[in-house]
Amino acid sequence: MAGFSEQIKGCIFNLDGVIVDTAKHHYTAWKRLANQLGFDFSIEQHEELRGLSRLASLEKILEWGNVYMTEAEKLHWSDVKNNWYVELISNLKPSDVLPGALLFLRQVREAGLQMALSSASRSARSVLRSTHLEPYFDVIIDGYSTRKVKPDPESFLLAAQGLGLRPAECVVFEDAPLGVWAGVAGGFTVVGIGQPEYLPKAHLVIPGFENLTFNNLLAQLSGTTVA
Ligand code: G1P
Repeated sequence: MAGFSEQIKGCIFNLDGVIVDTAKHHYTAWKRLANQLGFDFSIEQHEELRGLSRLASLEKILEWGNVYMTEAEKLHWSDVKNNWYVELISNLKPSDVLPGALLFLRQVREAGLQMALSSASRSARSVLRSTHLEPYFDVIIDGYSTRKVKPDPESFLLAAQGLGLRPAECVVFEDAPLGVWAGVAGGFTVVGIGQPEYLPKAHLVIPGFENLTFNNLLAQLSGTTVA
């Protein structure tokens, strides 16, 4: 699309599974919780939790396990899962940033674009601090900033608003199907990270940031029918 590169003024990144490999730790902690409650759940089911808030994730797991809990019990078990997760990420380091991600963030910065983080996780800031990535983001939207869960686009819209940009001026990077739907629903150009069969709604799907230059990405997006 002619002029697409000039139209894009900002990039909005999801965190877990896009920039840092923390999704596996969420899975480990949720699985441990399910096991304590007497049932199991698969990595495929976990795909459906990615992008959901902590409470929404727990409610989905309880549904799978056919377990009823009072609101107070839900809060208790959410805390238990979070303590396990926090323990799992306590040794997170800059080397845990996914391959190519840091280089890509630098290129976006050098190209003069603005950057925001949009994550459903309440641990997003702590993950960014441990991996030394916090200074890259002009705006950080985390699990404390939003009231609605994906596929509602609230998180991305808040990020764009924080950057002072319209959705059509931003590219969203997402690995979760729910997040891709949210980005598309919000009017953003969405780059899916992962396998195309899981992310059919994305405008473009890439395996990751490794060996990807920002200019190459723009060229690929210019060839798609977006926004
Ligand atoms: C929450 C959820 C988790 C979900 C993650 C998305 O994280 O617990 O299931 O995958 O957001 O980034 P939390 O706020 O518990 O760190």
